[in-house]
Amino acid sequence: MTAKIISGTETAKAIREELKQEVDQLREKHNVVPGLVTILVGEDPASQSYVTAKTKTAKALGIHSEQVTLPAETSEQELLAIVDKYNNDVKINGILVQLPLPKHINEGKVLFAINPDKDVDGFHPVNVGKMMLGEQCFLPCTPHGILELLQRSGTETSGAEVVILGRSNIVGKPIANLMLQKRKAGNATVTICHTRTKDMAFHTRRADIIIAAVGVPKMVTADMIKEGAVVIDVGVNRIGMTSEGKAILAGDVDFESVKEKAAAITPVPGGVGPMTITMLMKNTVQAAKQAAGLI
Ligand code: GUN
Repeated sequence: MTAKIISGTETAKAIREELKQEVDQLREKHNVVPGLVTILVGEDPASQSYVTAKTKTAKALGIHSEQVTLPAETSEQELLAIVDKYNNDVKINGILVQLPLPKHINEGKVLFAINPDKDVDGFHPVNVGKMMLGEQCFLPCTPHGILELLQRSGTETSGAEVVILGRSNIVGKPIANLMLQKRKAGNATVTICHTRTKDMAFHTRRADIIIAAVGVPKMVTADMIKEGAVVIDVGVNRIGMTSEGKAILAGDVDFESVKEKAAAITPVPGGVGPMTITMLMKNTVQAAKQAAGLI
């Protein structure tokens, strides 16, 4: 079997076209322009490229976009003051502080300082709690993107054995929670594997759907999966540099071997990555509609 490729690039493009129309309508009918600010502290190249991609996508959709780039030495106090400024800025509906932050800044303190109504990343405890309870809220962008990919690719999740590799607050924990809920792309039986799991392959081999988010290049190999599994690769690992200075990326999944055994697989790049950015745009539009009293 050669797997169907689940293209995040194509799926994201379709959703962005829907969003662009929505943004145009908001502007023309209601005089509402959604606004997003991205805040980056330090010079991590991966974070820089994510933030640039987010700003560029926002602009392409007609979303008002601001980018704040701060030196690595920025104090927690200074960062909190900037967050507060944007909490009170009516032009801005969404605030995104790119993670990870430098070690001297308390990540939780900064995330908790964002107004939950502007928390388009879905990282504030109010939104995490609402998500957990299945209430209307901003869903975190990468898990939300994975749900859309599963749904739009026609993957049956109800009753499926889903094995998640990684227990981060950004991906592993929220996607586990969402997939066990009684909802579209939910109703799954969920297992989370992590660094202390005794026999990861034992779990992955019985999975109908594997979601890999561990940050270890090509860790999931063909011998670890069941014939016909659906494999979602969240990993974005920089494994080298081209002669033109471009990063060479690899996922957490050994794409070449796994695609011969899986029923469907997401590539890296062009899989989950474009979906994460698109879900951020969707949340920003949602935040603008909420702020304008339209939902
Ligand atoms: N770093 C890696 N992924 C994310 C994300 O989805 N949001 C933010 N703010 N930082 C990240």
